[in-house]
Amino acid sequence: MNTHILNIDENSLKICKKIISEGGAVAFPTETVYGLGANAFDDTAVNNIFKIKGRPNDNPLIVHVHQDYDISNLVCNIPDYAVKLAKTYLPGPLTMVYKSKGKVSSAVSCGLDTLAIRVPEHKGAQEFLKYVNLPIAAPSANISKHVSPVTAEHVYSDLNGKIQVILDGGKCSGGIESTVLDCTGDVPTILRSGLITQEMISAVAGDCLVYIPKDGEKVKSPGMKYKHYSPNCDTMLYELSELDKALETYDKFLAEGIKVCFLCDEITSKLIGGRNFLNLGKDGKDIASNLYLKLREGEKNFQMLIAVAPQDKSGVMVGVMNRLTKACKNK
Ligand code: TXA
Ligand code: MG
Repeated sequence: MNTHILNIDENSLKICKKIISEGGAVAFPTETVYGLGANAFDDTAVNNIFKIKGRPNDNPLIVHVHQDYDISNLVCNIPDYAVKLAKTYLPGPLTMVYKSKGKVSSAVSCGLDTLAIRVPEHKGAQEFLKYVNLPIAAPSANISKHVSPVTAEHVYSDLNGKIQVILDGGKCSGGIESTVLDCTGDVPTILRSGLITQEMISAVAGDCLVYIPKDGEKVKSPGMKYKHYSPNCDTMLYELSELDKALETYDKFLAEGIKVCFLCDEITSKLIGGRNFLNLGKDGKDIASNLYLKLREGEKNFQMLIAVAPQDKSGVMVGVMNRLTKACKNK
């Protein structure tokens, strides 16, 4: 199968609608990362997404809908706080989990009685969802466990030959996946941290918890238990307070002839004495936006990446640290 990267226009949207209506999958941009979408009502199409990605079949998918879509078609028991959050943050990088009405394919939620719904903000995503006029089940458009794609070229390098079309919406601005929020209880609970932070949710909903699985408990969001976001090169993570150790490690690898590079924010880059580095940027928002771009650049050009965590771990950095920790082998 030949894979085509297409600009988003009437012609490419028409092609996508045909592919989706025939049970195929299409990659499309969102403001977080690229998604790999299929008709959420079609069992075969949804199962095929798991096959294309090599995704474990107990890790449920998010259903993406157009901003005008009435989600009460798909879910019930929508609490007041969720209505407020949706009014404030949607369309945007916030996925909300509700009790499912069981209307979409059971493969979407892998047998759970809940359904995760996302209304992406990206103009291209909205155009795609409007044109196909269906709820679209979509995980990130990468091979399972690899770094999520934030450009059409990233999708191509993972899925070339496996899908027909990648809609090109440029570089995703957000850079890490949406916040996944459980809205089935009295208090909203973050299952996966992201660009919509705990503080932002609390400010609207009055309160917000962060789910931490207890030892031996069946996890609420199965995606949490898998290794994720790993580049195809060795990666290590150090705290800024361990910088001496990080520099020592870098020099040791360099002396062994290994192509090594730091992955750090701008402040840290001034403290590493002219060694190679990939710059993650200035603040949390920059760092989120650049993280996957730089991890993918790093795996192409180096054998070993040494990430140094920024000092500030608040807000968006909670989500960034979650991804970075999962990407790095020494954690
Ligand atoms: O930003 C995003 O969310 C991107 C773009 C493409 O929209 N999508 C994405 O999908 O990151 P994926 O499949 O890579 O991650 C979906 C996450 C997983 O951690 C999964 O366990 C969780 O959402 N999830 C999906 N349905 C769920 C449910 N019913 N209950 C709890 N967690 C759920
Ligand atoms: Mg993913």
